[in-house]
Amino acid sequence: MAELTGNKDAKNYGIGIPAKTEGFFLKGSCHYDWGMQDRLSRIFRPASGKTVMLAFDDGYIMGPTSGLERMDLSVVPLAEHCDVLMCTRGALRTCIPPVHNKPVCLRVSAGATILKELSDETVGVAIDDAIRCNASAMAVQVYVGSEFEHKTIANLTKVIDAGMRHGIPTLGVTAVGKQMVRDARYLGLAGRLIAELGAQFNKTYYCEEGFDTVVAACPIPIVIAGGKKIPEPDALGMAYKAIDQGALGVDMGRNIFQADNPIAMLKAVSAVVHEGEKPDKALDMYNTLKNEA
Ligand code: 5RP
Repeated sequence: MAELTGNKDAKNYGIGIPAKTEGFFLKGSCHYDWGMQDRLSRIFRPASGKTVMLAFDDGYIMGPTSGLERMDLSVVPLAEHCDVLMCTRGALRTCIPPVHNKPVCLRVSAGATILKELSDETVGVAIDDAIRCNASAMAVQVYVGSEFEHKTIANLTKVIDAGMRHGIPTLGVTAVGKQMVRDARYLGLAGRLIAELGAQFNKTYYCEEGFDTVVAACPIPIVIAGGKKIPEPDALGMAYKAIDQGALGVDMGRNIFQADNPIAMLKAVSAVVHEGEKPDKALDMYNTLKNEA
């Protein structure tokens, strides 16, 4: 039994000071439990409300993608310059030293390759292994309108249920099948569906026409995908336009690690996302850092 004699009397009750009811900085996220909000605060910087995620899970469907042949050599130096590492558990355990202490968005859907139908995925990671990897989020690909639409939606809901049990957010990834058009109508449909099924955030593509409507109709945060490598000025411009129209971050891979200078590119993208830097200034920053290197 605890010793009671000699204890100071409790008297600091702050009578008359109302207890604060704190809000939460992130779109659509104010009603989650503490652990879920804590993880979301690791993914999205509370100061800016935004995130720069480094995606290097390309190998899970494409094999040794250019720039990722040796993840231990190419990705590790980038880790300190991004907010989140988005990857498979295999890449994480074999190539990323745990000392970086970066939040991880773990790719948990699996089962397809570029050689066959991409939408034929399943859930490839058990929730207890995601927990062992200390995942701050789990990513699941959703192929709306593709051959295995139903299966990929079921994958998403299973992962969301498991995530809800343990306070781990789910990133629903809008994957666009070969026959689909990446326009606001399609991206809006997929994003809304992903949000309504309970994912905590949505990765989608930027589209030139009507991206603001995709954001407006999606009640959870949107981060944009990088996709195939495009020239650095275009990638910075795309990031700027997406953020300007309400996206809360980027989840970029090839446009970072295939850039002439990946660290400079990551820093320039980060300036656009977190500081609202204009694309021309961000490009100057990129070129200066690249030339200094
Ligand atoms: C597709 C994905 C990718 O696998 C991915 O994260 C790769 O990133 P990038 O296309 O920028 O190289 O999630 O939606």
